[in-house]
Amino acid sequence: MTNPQPAAHGAITLSRFLIEQQRRDAESCPAELRLLIETVARACKTIGHAISKGALGDVLGALGSENVQGEVQKKLDVIANELLLDANEWGGHLAGMASEEMETIHRIPNRYPKGEYLLLFDPIDGSSNIDVDLSVGTIFSVLRAPEDCAGRDVTEADFLQPGRDQVAAGYAIYGPQTLLVLTVGDGVYEFTLDREVGSWRLTDGPMRIPAGTREFAINMARRRQWSPTITRYIEERIAGSEGPLGIDYNMRWTASMVADIHRILKRGGVFLYPADHREAGKARLRLLYEANPMAMLVEQAGGTATDGRDRILDIPPHGLHQRVGVVIGDVQEVAIASS
Ligand code: F6P
Repeated sequence: MTNPQPAAHGAITLSRFLIEQQRRDAESCPAELRLLIETVARACKTIGHAISKGALGDVLGALGSENVQGEVQKKLDVIANELLLDANEWGGHLAGMASEEMETIHRIPNRYPKGEYLLLFDPIDGSSNIDVDLSVGTIFSVLRAPEDCAGRDVTEADFLQPGRDQVAAGYAIYGPQTLLVLTVGDGVYEFTLDREVGSWRLTDGPMRIPAGTREFAINMARRRQWSPTITRYIEERIAGSEGPLGIDYNMRWTASMVADIHRILKRGGVFLYPADHREAGKARLRLLYEANPMAMLVEQAGGTATDGRDRILDIPPHGLHQRVGVVIGDVQEVAIASS
């Protein structure tokens, strides 16, 4: 069989990309996984549409409730969570779902067939940005359900797999453009939503994190929580050309992990949200819904991700809503900032 001619960027839809990936390597992208990713991508389109309506769609503002993390829920957090649950419930690809917005797992109702995958998501990441019209995103991670799940209900324990076992991960970013960034363990690819046609079109990939970019992203207001290693790392970069490095760095912070990681995939640099070194286990970001999928994407694009010490993808999870420190991006910068 002759290889198909490579098509220009923009000409390849997400469906075609996944079908071609399935033909190339059915193991990394079997039909079931392809259909699951297409369903998630469709739900992200709907979420992006709801976000773009803003005040006209009565979707902005807080709900007056808190999620399991004790954070104020925005209306869109709840709307997006429902959209993802509804879209993925009936397709037959999943055994269950878990979301940052729900205390426990969502089992596939008995009226629908069950599949072999588990879907985990943060429906709206960076949601404090929604009301001020800055980028937010949806992050997702796909695991294979343990083999012994067939014929029984999934449990929380089935979701507690290390990030290295993810079979796919990605995010949608709702910004100036609506993008989908995806890996099935064979490189990272970016798709741009063609709003007129309603289809995702391949616009970048395989993506590689440019090395040597002198940009770091950290919330400086949390400085009192940093370990000596992180403090030294940041202080040296702030000292810039007048310090031991002799080079100026820039700082960026969007308060939306999706936007910060997307910048790193495109432009390089490092993102840090360290755990509070004064109190074991106190950290901001969630292992299963944020750190693991982003770590898979970044590693697939040639970067690394640690919790400040160890590789994120090797951390054995002990709870659905476990939090973890995150140092992620450029290989060299992550190594210097991790002890
Ligand atoms: O909860 C996740 C998140 O919104 C990330 O998207 C973002 O990186 C971080 O929290 C922002 O944290 P802070 O409010 O400390 O700036």
